Amino acid sequence: MVEAPVRHGILAEFEERFAGSQRLYERARRSLAGGIAHDGRYIKPFPIYVDHADGPYKWDVDGHKLIDYAMGHGSLILGHNDPTVTEAMAAQLHRGTHYGAGNETEVRWAEQVQKLVPSAERVRFVGSGTEANLLAMRLARAYTGRNTILKFDGHFHGWSDYLVKGEKPPFESASVPGVPDDVLRTVAVLPSDDLGAVEERLVQGDVAAVIVEPSGASWSMIPLPEGFLAGLRDLATKHSAVLIFDEVITGFRWSPGGAQARFGITPDMTTLAKIVAGGMPGGAVSGRAAIMEHLEFKDEPGWNAKKKVIHPGTYNANPLAATAGYTCLKRCEDPAIQQRTDELTARLRAGLNTVMEQHSVNGCAWGESSAFHIIVGEQCTNRTAGDLHTPEGIAPATLKASGKAGLATPLSLGMLLEGVDLFNAGGLLSVTHSEDDVDFTIEAFERTLLRMRQEGLVY
Ligand SMILES: Cc1ncc(COP(=O)(O)O)c(C=O)c1O
Repeated sequence: MVEAPVRHGILAEFEERFAGSQRLYERARRSLAGGIAHDGRYIKPFPIYVDHADGPYKWDVDGHKLIDYAMGHGSLILGHNDPTVTEAMAAQLHRGTHYGAGNETEVRWAEQVQKLVPSAERVRFVGSGTEANLLAMRLARAYTGRNTILKFDGHFHGWSDYLVKGEKPPFESASVPGVPDDVLRTVAVLPSDDLGAVEERLVQGDVAAVIVEPSGASWSMIPLPEGFLAGLRDLATKHSAVLIFDEVITGFRWSPGGAQARFGITPDMTTLAKIVAGGMPGGAVSGRAAIMEHLEFKDEPGWNAKKKVIHPGTYNANPLAATAGYTCLKRCEDPAIQQRTDELTARLRAGLNTVMEQHSVNGCAWGESSAFHIIVGEQCTNRTAGDLHTPEGIAPATLKASGKAGLATPLSLGMLLEGVDLFNAGGLLSVTHSEDDVDFTIEAFERTLLRMRQEGLVY
């Protein structure tokens, strides 16, 4: 066990040691709305600003070397600057980044997605995960002729008007600032542990698609009960609704073929982003040919005007993203990549739980595959000194809020002081992280917990 260091408060020390980030934040707020480019990067008193990154590390503007658990919001399973990806991109850079026309790389990229993802009979590239889900919904609505989309409490599918509903606690909230009520009424939100309620909603006959994060909300923050995905598969088939797996995070991470290959359950459609584009902006919709057919132009009378789904997009499959994506997916076909990241993450989750167990601090670390989450100060009734998949005794809304609420801020700031950048009080690993990085993180967590105890934040 490490000794508790005696220093002044976490917040005061953070403000002192990360002063360069504070200066940039103050400057940024005068031009960049909110001072940041993504809500998820907001942290009080100010977010950090990064100078450069490599492998599993990044260096902030004050020169701190940080073990990175954001990893491009999960997109960098190969780590920062993977040489095969960056070399392929550098070569492409000199051949042009936008042809305003098709190119062979986008075809190879689609073939590679098709090869790895079981449900991908056809593929269409888009600009982001949000766009992938927008297009998937439009296709499902065109294919079924129905309007309603069924989603689950806490499940994140990007920031479109439709799918922000029910994402943040309180899940039952009826309004979302800036989103018309008429739009929200086309989306039904249910708890993610009640197949009976799903069937009750499906029998009404208006559901075009059921969309789900197959990991459970936010990369396993609210784990799904055993059998839930298989139940959804059966119910969607029975009631002729399209089952969409949002594999924006899990794609090529939960296994080379994503969560669907790991769990052996094939959805009708799959949405992808992040790893699919090798860390570049990009995404994809894939699925059954009969649904994806609605993207085709046809000579059949009335088809193009009445059945064809509209889908332009300036940056779809731009050659740079296509090159990064194709090169990354070639690497991801080796299951050793996912096995290694899964094993390291299990070691991390177990180590974090061991620390809480040894110091009798309430909380737990949990997750699935190469994702982990930490909550401190809440009593988890099934924590041991080992790995944990499904925390018991903590409400789903509390689990979902764990990245930002409760003690997440002092925990995250304390970990930054120790040289670790968590992502929403958790994170995602890459194949470049090492046992040493994981062990360093566990020791950093122990020192941070002890500081939090000294400051009266935990008991
Ligand atoms: C499961 C899931 N779906 C969709 C999205 C949205 O993707 P993007 O940020 O590329 O729009 C995310 C982003 O984190 C995600 O985690």
